[in-house]
Amino acid sequence: MELINRPRRLRKNSMIRDMVRETRLNIEDLIYPLFVVEGKGIKKEIPSLKGNYHFSVDMLIEEIKEIRELGIKSILLFGVPNNKDKFGSEGYSKDGVVQRALRTIKSKFNDIYVITDVCMCQYTDHGHCGIINDTGYVENDLTLEYLAKIAISHANAGADMISPSDMMDGRVGYIRKALDREGYTDVPIMSYSAKYSSSFYGPFRDAANSAPSFGDRKTYQMDSANSDEAMREVDLDIQEGADIVMVKPALSYLDIIRRVKDNRNIPIAAYSVSGEYSMIKMAVENGLLSEDVIYESTLSIKRAGANMIITYFAKELAAKIKE
Ligand code: PBG
Repeated sequence: MELINRPRRLRKNSMIRDMVRETRLNIEDLIYPLFVVEGKGIKKEIPSLKGNYHFSVDMLIEEIKEIRELGIKSILLFGVPNNKDKFGSEGYSKDGVVQRALRTIKSKFNDIYVITDVCMCQYTDHGHCGIINDTGYVENDLTLEYLAKIAISHANAGADMISPSDMMDGRVGYIRKALDREGYTDVPIMSYSAKYSSSFYGPFRDAANSAPSFGDRKTYQMDSANSDEAMREVDLDIQEGADIVMVKPALSYLDIIRRVKDNRNIPIAAYSVSGEYSMIKMAVENGLLSEDVIYESTLSIKRAGANMIITYFAKELAAKIKE
């Protein structure tokens, strides 16, 4: 048969495959989430998120030494405080667990980029991402003031970038103004712009001890059926001053990542969430799938258009990239 076009010509050996490869994961693409708790000498595995730990500040420093060796340059810090209250006041306390962690990290390393999660659910006794009014509804505009306080206290403790994950309307603009007013004009905001109400967050809620004690997050997180709405959320965040927009979760929302990529000119982060991690981890540990699926699935997020990926597999991926 006379075939003129034979795509297989470019697959013939690894040298040509390498030359035509369109997407690669780089170590700079990876952001590693870490959970910090009160106390000393604590490194406790999170049962729902095997291979991830709760670290006290001192042990967190040891972990950061390890990930630096692997070449990971960026972390996303979540605080898990002992004391929770109605207003999530530990979240913006000068001596809160994240603030202390930030100061310690910044005093020890100058080559690790620290992004902090700004939200209330780990800090409120009811586990919602905002302030609750008498009718049990999350009060959007009042919550903004608290989020701004958290953001400022993180910047004050040395955060390189702020990442609001609460999904209140108008929070990016509100936080931006507050940061600017306090002189943190150079601290960027990575906004969880298209954050879906998802069952893939289950293991995280155990890890952060942040499951809502009543109701769900459907009144502020997005309906997984919607794609146009993601574009509206992204546009609002861009107008309000977001430097990076995020899509979360990642693997079931690759179409959203691609849509933002094709239609807007702004860096995109994708959060490959706890449930995605746990599914793959379990399948690999039980010998059901080869560990190559870790790289393959993360690469698919990059191929969809993400510039950076928050992943609990950052260490495994870093080791693989180095090979
Ligand atoms: C909320 C927050 C959540 C995650 C990150 N920030 C959970 C939620 O909205 O319930 C989930 C991350 C994951 O599942 O890995 N502040």
